[in-house]
Amino acid sequence: MSRDGSDAAGAAGPSRATVNKRGGKSDAAPREASRTPAAIFVAVLIGAAAIFAAYMIQNMEDTGNVRGPGKYAAAIPALRAVAAQLLHPEKGILAADESPTTFGARLAGHPNKPTLRQTWRRILLTTPGLATHISGVILHEETFAQTADLQAARAAGVLLGIKLDNGTAPMGPKQAGELHTRGLGGLAGRCTTFHTKHGASFAKWRAVFRAGAHTPSKAAIRRNSKDLASYAAAAQKCGLVPIIEPEVLADGDHDLSRAANASARVLRGVFRALKKRGDVDVGAVLLKVAMVTPGSSSVMAATPEQVG
Ligand SMILES: *[C@@H]1O[C@H](CO)[C@@H](O)[C@H](O)[C@H]1NC(C)=O
Ligand SMILES: *[C@@H]1O[C@H](CO)[C@@H](O)[C@H](O)[C@H]1NC(C)=O
Repeated sequence: MSRDGSDAAGAAGPSRATVNKRGGKSDAAPREASRTPAAIFVAVLIGAAAIFAAYMIQNMEDTGNVRGPGKYAAAIPALRAVAAQLLHPEKGILAADESPTTFGARLAGHPNKPTLRQTWRRILLTTPGLATHISGVILHEETFAQTADLQAARAAGVLLGIKLDNGTAPMGPKQAGELHTRGLGGLAGRCTTFHTKHGASFAKWRAVFRAGAHTPSKAAIRRNSKDLASYAAAAQKCGLVPIIEPEVLADGDHDLSRAANASARVLRGVFRALKKRGDVDVGAVLLKVAMVTPGSSSVMAATPEQVG
């Protein structure tokens, strides 16, 4: 999906274009730094319409494999309705949740001030006809101060999303180079605030994995999958539809088969974790999948047929 903070969600698009962007910590995207604002705007809109690879996995609990959401069952129909609205077949999800750091990298040459970020987000949120093509917009928490702009988007029929993760941190000495995602601390309270006070309908959490000779490690898959599942449960319990984004990074020289192997192991780990918890309704979860492609520094190019 997109780089850094704002992953666009879409359906089955080339997520290479969108990988990397967040937060600027381990995976900032210097490649993007020279883009002009206009180009970014167009790219973001097109990306949002075409790229977000999200799909709903339905009825997994009907197979009897999952215990179901227990006392939150009454809230499930509403969550599923929001998920369906987000997945409108002719609309995309706009990712506008870049961290301030990444925002600065993208608008290189312009002063990265709060007022510039506000103006930029205002332009996006108040674009005439936005709801014709955009079902929801993922926002960084700083944008939730722009109440009038949020109200305008909501009134137009665009759902608001909040990026809830706090970026990545190193896993530990045994998993050198691997990352886990921060932000579980106090998550329930933050979910509730964004839902009830700010009118958010959905949330996003991104975990990243490296496709290398020895990665992603089992430990990294286990930890990030468990955390994604914990986040998904917390989000649903306070009324937010969770987008889960387990992303195999494009960074690296891995070939297509290694990328495919990593993606398969990661997705298996994530769904195993969701199933193990047993309290996440997978009919009200959006999975943001990434394209499986060779690494960005791989010498082995893949054809569209191989990727497809
Ligand atoms: C995550 O970030 C939010 C907003 O920046 C902050 O309020 C919260 O305390 C952070 N949580 C953790 C666990 O770092
Ligand atoms: C990934 O590769 C490892 C090592 O070659 C292999 O054991 C494993 O079965 C593969 N997993 C998948 C899902 O392809």
